[in-house]
Amino acid sequence: MIRFKTLGLAAIVAVTAFTTGALAQEHGHDTKTPERQSWSFAGPFGSYDRAQLQRGFQVFREVCSNCHSAKGLYFRNLAQPGGPQFSEAQVKALAAEYKVKDGPADDGSYYERPGRPADRLPSNYANPEAAKAALGAAPPDMTVLAKARSYSRGFPLFLVDPIIQYQEHGVDYIYSLIALGYSDDKDPNHNDYFPGGHIAMGKPLSDGQVEYTDGSPKTVQQYAKDVASYLMWMAEPKLEDRKKTGFRVMVFLIIFAGLLYFTKRRVWAAAH
Ligand code: HEC
Repeated sequence: MIRFKTLGLAAIVAVTAFTTGALAQEHGHDTKTPERQSWSFAGPFGSYDRAQLQRGFQVFREVCSNCHSAKGLYFRNLAQPGGPQFSEAQVKALAAEYKVKDGPADDGSYYERPGRPADRLPSNYANPEAAKAALGAAPPDMTVLAKARSYSRGFPLFLVDPIIQYQEHGVDYIYSLIALGYSDDKDPNHNDYFPGGHIAMGKPLSDGQVEYTDGSPKTVQQYAKDVASYLMWMAEPKLEDRKKTGFRVMVFLIIFAGLLYFTKRRVWAAAH
């Protein structure tokens, strides 16, 4: 019986290893594996760094959002607990800087008005086709990009990742792509981490481009780290809640297991 189970398990491991190996090869041998970074929100007790999310939003807003949309983001989200937590007044002022399409008015016409916290962040391009026509490829919407992108770590790491709680593949990829993937001496559309190596997006960041007011270094690395963290929050705004709940569930399960153990001992002691 045990032998069959072991055999079955070995077969499953072998098949998965083989398929992921094949997939990794398909990914292209000249595409580099993203570098693993340290993130404040990693691990079972991880949480976002508010100042970092605020800086990340600044980079996203001043640079990335010129091309990328974030259709799932409402201005008011930026004031919610667990996120960048801008003040209500800041969010109001920020929203008012944007023009939002509204209507129809009484006469049936559409018009523009200043944004309000309950509005979604307007996109720079009317639709993905317009963005594609202007940029050569459609920039993906950023709302859940940090969770939508991943890469194959191959065997045996994909078996280890759940145990070491490695869940930051998406942000590691984004960081590597924008901070490490471009090189000056090559084709400006070459990126070491983009599958296939050729990306329609030119290097989006350069040193000193975004004016930080909190004294953080104005470097590509810092911008990339901050904006990737911000994108992670956008993709998973409830991460902190999830981790807290996970921890409580673990504590509960441990206590519950202990109770079951003692119950079992008592029940079986009585049976003798
Ligand atoms: C000038 C326009 C432009 C700007 C600014 C820009 N991007 Fe892009 N981005 C693009 C385009 C176009 C693509 C699609 C590339 C492709 O498919 O070849 C893209 C793709 C991406 C991808 C997806 C790669 C993938 O795996 O599909 C990421 C991640 C990304 N951009 C991050 C950023 C970040 C972060 C910023 C801000 C620091 C930014 N971009 C700023 C145009 C831009």
